Amino acid sequence: MTDPIQQAVTILKQARQITVLTGAGVSKESGVPTFRDALDGLWTRYDPQELATVQAFQRTPKLVWDWYAYRRQLMRTAEPNPGHHALAALERYFPEMVIITQNVDELHEQAGSSDVIHLHGNIVQSKCLDNCRGNPTTIDLTALEIIETPPRCPHCGAYIRPDVVWFGELLPEAALLRAYQISEQADVMLIVGTSGMVMPAAILPRIAQNNGAQIIEINPDTSAITPFARVKLEGPSGIMLSRLVEALHNDGS
Ligand code: OAD
Repeated sequence: MTDPIQQAVTILKQARQITVLTGAGVSKESGVPTFRDALDGLWTRYDPQELATVQAFQRTPKLVWDWYAYRRQLMRTAEPNPGHHALAALERYFPEMVIITQNVDELHEQAGSSDVIHLHGNIVQSKCLDNCRGNPTTIDLTALEIIETPPRCPHCGAYIRPDVVWFGELLPEAALLRAYQISEQADVMLIVGTSGMVMPAAILPRIAQNNGAQIIEINPDTSAITPFARVKLEGPSGIMLSRLVEALHNDGS
């Protein structure tokens, strides 16, 4: 039985264009809880789907704002882990590589990845709830004198909200369109740390596969992707991605 890492190296060596899809699992070893974990301690009594919606924000703006302030604080102290660094190193072999991420942190960019598509927005950014000056009307919080939370848009007075996609909201159109194109063009898709259950991100592996791409999955558990992965590297991405890039390097690629 060939070692799955070696199987993955063989596939990567023959790859023309690799696309990477990441989920919350790739940031777990940086101390950023996966989306459904982000409720330990203070938040255990809330359901994320009750916090990450426009309705929840309109019903309890301060509660939702405080939850995101808590998650932003978690992300502020987070550092890229070996998995993020391994993906950045992979660009040496695949300069055209694109990372499509469902994560709202900036750890891929901090590790040095140069082309990252954020399907679900970016928690570090804020915007006017009404997008009064176009979608999105981003607001620099550091330029505001914050006297209440949630703060108010300096242009129109509406609440300011995190620039992330909430349940029931459309994904940023340009990001999603490019993600579809990149997934169609890939001949290998490396899928790291996602349960593969949330649409439309979960369609991307299918689009890639339907266009002939081979799927390599990295996840310590089984996911919705596992049944159609050509190779499964079972383990934490910090370890498995590092081993994969090292094996690629040793193979003289
Ligand atoms: P999930 O929390 O659904 O899944 C995280 C995946 O990471 C699971 O499959 C875990 O097995 C795996 N995992 C855990 N530890 C890992 C590790 N050390 N290395 C690699 N994988 C590990 O997170 P996502 O699939 O990213 O959407 O969730 C997708 C979306 O669901 C999120 O972006 C969010 C949520 O609704 C929005 O916020 C719009």
